[in-house]
Amino acid sequence: MRLPLARARAKLDVVRPMPDAAAMLAALPVACAMVCAENRFVFANLAAEHFFAISISHLRHMSLSDLIPKDSPLFALIEQVRAGEIVVSDHDVTFDSPRLHRRGITVQGTPVLEEPGYVLLTFQDESAARTLDRQLNFRSAARSVSGMAAILAHEVKNPLSGIRGAAQLLENSVGEADRELAVLIRNEADRIRDLVDRMEAFGEKPIVRDAVNIHRVLEHVRRLAQSGFAAHLRIHELYDPSLPPVWGNRDQLVQVLLNLVKNAAEAITESDRDDGEITLITAYQHGVRVAVPGTKRRVHLPLVVTVRDSGPGIPEDIRDHLFDPFVTSKSSGSGLGLALVAKIIGEHGGLIEMDSRPGKTDFRVFLPIFLEDRFESVNTTAKS
Ligand SMILES: Nc1ncnc2c1ncn2[C@@H]1O[C@H](COP(=O)(O)OP(=O)(O)OP(=O)(O)O)[C@@H](O)[C@H]1O
Ligand SMILES: [Mg+2]
Repeated sequence: MRLPLARARAKLDVVRPMPDAAAMLAALPVACAMVCAENRFVFANLAAEHFFAISISHLRHMSLSDLIPKDSPLFALIEQVRAGEIVVSDHDVTFDSPRLHRRGITVQGTPVLEEPGYVLLTFQDESAARTLDRQLNFRSAARSVSGMAAILAHEVKNPLSGIRGAAQLLENSVGEADRELAVLIRNEADRIRDLVDRMEAFGEKPIVRDAVNIHRVLEHVRRLAQSGFAAHLRIHELYDPSLPPVWGNRDQLVQVLLNLVKNAAEAITESDRDDGEITLITAYQHGVRVAVPGTKRRVHLPLVVTVRDSGPGIPEDIRDHLFDPFVTSKSSGSGLGLALVAKIIGEHGGLIEMDSRPGKTDFRVFLPIFLEDRFESVNTTAKS
């Protein structure tokens, strides 16, 4: 006798055994670890292995205090869990030790009632979610700059060229002492014009895209850097030559990477160390998908370009506004470099992420790849 499909499925569900709990935990994309009453690891899943960057077999012989400084709020959280036999969460936790550097982590501790003193811990990286959130803010910030650039171009550039011309005339007609002042006026007028020119790059123009070989772009950027602002620095390349082309605008990608490499070079130079170096890395990364604002589409961003430097790291006080226009810690900086980077990457449907500590700063740019099938290459990978 044939069963209707739904009934047949229901029957199957009854007889199909439950998957092993360990297999489910291993597959969970959230770092989970269990510690005993002495805070030694008794269990860690695969995601925890990635989180701590230590294999499970090693973790099993370790204690939490081997990885995390004793004054970390994590230990207070664990004690709270044990004392009250309750679930305790802590947000935006930073782990900073020689073996582990993570920030923006949400930790949750749960008591294991069957095993007194045991605590199950989960570690979730909230920074990725925040990056997405900020990415949208960057776009609106960039848009406000583009409006301002249009006004400036109109209201400032024209009178400015008048001032510059007058200063130039004065240079030739005044005495030696005043000539210096006239030159100063001309130079300052040029500086304002350059700033307005840079702001004009924020204009809203549709982007023209094609298949772009990212390694050629990086090679071009490296040559430009080494023949100018990074002539005194070592630049390493760690490329995955098998990567497919990016779906993007070559000139804009040059601009993005040049801005990032220039910041890296400036950070190293500022730190006054001779052993500073920049590393350019390309890699393929599975599983990075983001929603396209205003649509139900999701973008698959498998190609990651990292610009790494060994400089002093990003000043704490500007981290939250790093990609906003006019945020700078440099006396002669305009603070437009990263705002433009964020705008261009946003228009490419990509993402930018920053991870910084003294001695190692990473800017990671996630980009869509070019696929033969144009429909796919405009990033439609799911119709959720
Ligand atoms: N690799 C880095 N290491 C340390 N700090 C950085 C790095 N990249 C950026 N920053 C910080 O971010 C700030 C903003 O960078 P951004 O490129 O937007 O502006 P800027 O470099 O100051 O000026 P501009 O690029 O317009 O000349 C910098 O002033 C610097 O403090
Ligand atoms: Mg810059």
